[in-house]
Amino acid sequence: MRLKHCINYQDFRELARRRLPGPIFNYIDGAADDETTYRRNTSAFEECDLVPNVLTGVEHVDLSVNVLGQKLELPFYCSPTALQRLFHHEGERAVAHAAQKFGTMFGVSSLGTVSLEEISSNFSFPQVYQFYFHKDRGLNMAMLERAKSAGVRIMMLTVDSITGGNRERDLRTGFSIPLRLTLEGLVQFAIKPKWAVDYLMHEKFRLPQLERDVVMAGGTTSISDYFTTMLDPSMNWRDVAEMVKQWDDKFCLKGIMSVNDAKRAIDIGCSGIVVSNHGGRQLDGSRSSFDQLAEIVDAVGDRIEVLFDGGVHRGTHALKALSLGAKAVGLGRYYLFPLAAAGRAGVERALGLMRAEIERDMKLMGCTSIAQLSRSNLRFRNSFRREQATAQCH
Ligand SMILES: Cc1cc2nc3c(=O)[nH]c(=O)nc-3n(C[C@H](O)[C@H](O)[C@H](O)COP(=O)(O)O)c2cc1C
Repeated sequence: MRLKHCINYQDFRELARRRLPGPIFNYIDGAADDETTYRRNTSAFEECDLVPNVLTGVEHVDLSVNVLGQKLELPFYCSPTALQRLFHHEGERAVAHAAQKFGTMFGVSSLGTVSLEEISSNFSFPQVYQFYFHKDRGLNMAMLERAKSAGVRIMMLTVDSITGGNRERDLRTGFSIPLRLTLEGLVQFAIKPKWAVDYLMHEKFRLPQLERDVVMAGGTTSISDYFTTMLDPSMNWRDVAEMVKQWDDKFCLKGIMSVNDAKRAIDIGCSGIVVSNHGGRQLDGSRSSFDQLAEIVDAVGDRIEVLFDGGVHRGTHALKALSLGAKAVGLGRYYLFPLAAAGRAGVERALGLMRAEIERDMKLMGCTSIAQLSRSNLRFRNSFRREQATAQCH
């Protein structure tokens, strides 16, 4: 199987599975506890049907959207994800090239492996910086300043990771940074020597967002130590309100799932929220983001920009979330598997396929702009959801 044979998410996932050592594949593919939220994130789309209109004249379709003060050519973006150079030596550089080519935004993670300065000086797409909140308030302020000086406009604070999720696949393989593998995990690396050669032949693995201020060098501190010792479990609304004030530009909370929290985000001056459960990697049993989207859009959609991520594998998935009122849709594993499978070429191919699917689906729905998508073209099979959607249509 080669890149040119990949025509959908499952193909990229399979190619990544063949290329990556098991512990790394499972770090991407895995989620918390029994992975029920992870599975539901995608299966929830199947309970929502599209009702197309025809004969509307759809030669030209405009896929652009305005989000957080930026015009995106596409209604989807690349969500921030950690450790990308572990998946492919091009890492964030590959994703940044693809985001630039397709005119969309990309979130560089606090646990990114290429510096936010490098990305912002080499690319002009709207850059998002994904932030984790540290116990050391001085350090938080210094990191905000650093992002500001690099020209970042959109700050995205992840609020669903107050402690690490229970990712049992990683416990079994021993996946951690630095790698401390179990015997089974080591065997998995030994049978994928090409990955190891690639990894060793390229520049040393780094976490440049953190290494300046956080002591992680020397292999003594792992990412889980970082989460437990450096991040602040007492983080609360007052702290974040202070950060929003300090940032003084677009500020977004990633990982909002309740209406109450969405309202509080407005109260403290946030410009956006991402309805997200971290791809099912944190609280298993949490409602899927698609199931929860309508409730949040109804409560706050006219006062704050509501973005969405979780389980999007198809153009129609994105279309359904946009029809419910999401301003843009974040992709996670959808671009990570192509990255792992083939670097920049893989991510570009995947984003191109998603763009083509959405464009085709828009035409088949009878819509020429994202603003024309609405709940009047959705039907839910479950009666409670049906009532919610109908109430919104009238
Ligand atoms: C391997 C991996 C690493 C991730 N790293 C981060 C991260 O560093 N910060 C963050 O806010 N979210 C992170 N996420 C969550 C994504 O931003 C996004 O919310 C999630 O992947 C969406 O679900 P999907 O993968 O089903 O599209 C990560 C997700 C994956 C799969």
